[in-house]
Amino acid sequence: MMHKVIFLVVVFVAAFGFAQELSTSIIKAGASSLGVHSPVGTPDSHIHDKRQSSGSGTISDVTPHPYYSSSVGVLGCKINTNRVAYWKEPVDCDNICVKLTNVTAGRSVTLLRIDQSGGAHDISYDAWNYLFTGKPAAPGTAATGGAEGELKYEYLPADNCKSLITDGSGKLPLSAANSMNYLTSCTNGRDTWVGRNHQLWNINDPLCHRGYDEKCTLAQGANQATCGHGLGTGGDLPNPTDHVVMNIEYGTGKEVPVPKVAGEESSF
Ligand SMILES: *[C@@H]1O[C@H](CO)[C@@H](O)[C@H](O)[C@H]1NC(C)=O
Repeated sequence: MMHKVIFLVVVFVAAFGFAQELSTSIIKAGASSLGVHSPVGTPDSHIHDKRQSSGSGTISDVTPHPYYSSSVGVLGCKINTNRVAYWKEPVDCDNICVKLTNVTAGRSVTLLRIDQSGGAHDISYDAWNYLFTGKPAAPGTAATGGAEGELKYEYLPADNCKSLITDGSGKLPLSAANSMNYLTSCTNGRDTWVGRNHQLWNINDPLCHRGYDEKCTLAQGANQATCGHGLGTGGDLPNPTDHVVMNIEYGTGKEVPVPKVAGEESSF
């Protein structure tokens, strides 16, 4: 992040040609418009790119993603894992709520974009199934292959995705042990939605297998959270049934608890 900010500052200095008058507000404005797809160019192109990454368009490579994961440590036991977007761009600090519409069928879903994964635009299997067929990915209605045509995407203000956070807090649940790089990128001299709307938890992995189900706090200027128990400690979560993350098996539509096996988080 830091090198991007520095680069941005250099671009601004070059564009305006008065380094000494570069106010912090300009730096802030520049940093907050650093969209994930933005080629860094002139100040004009920043404004344009911001509009694009928070705007709308069409995509035709949406594929189903049956295994929950979050590259930035969003806790699967505290969100609706059936409404997640796994896109190839890095996870943004503002544009994490995207609406997809099957225009021909008049069906839409609103998704939390909280994972970066290779390849196409993946979305939760259930969301994909609904856009394709109008039915959930459940036994008897789970589809495979065959979705045709484009989907319209539209970034929404992230408040529109608060209902996908299942603890009712409206705050993106992050792993205190594993989300700090992401969180820092959202708070470092920037005013972002994630910076303002997150909660750190002492749960160590996005699949909610280990740690303690307790909130953590981050003191001003600290780079490590403080939790009731030691940060990142703890074995299996004490009451695993409350924290079980379910996947929906491709093809059968059966709900299956995410298994505890090494390497599980790197799938898809
Ligand atoms: C959109 O809905 C139509 C009609 O139900 C369906 O045939 C098509 O495959 C759907 N497209 C996608 C991408 O889900």
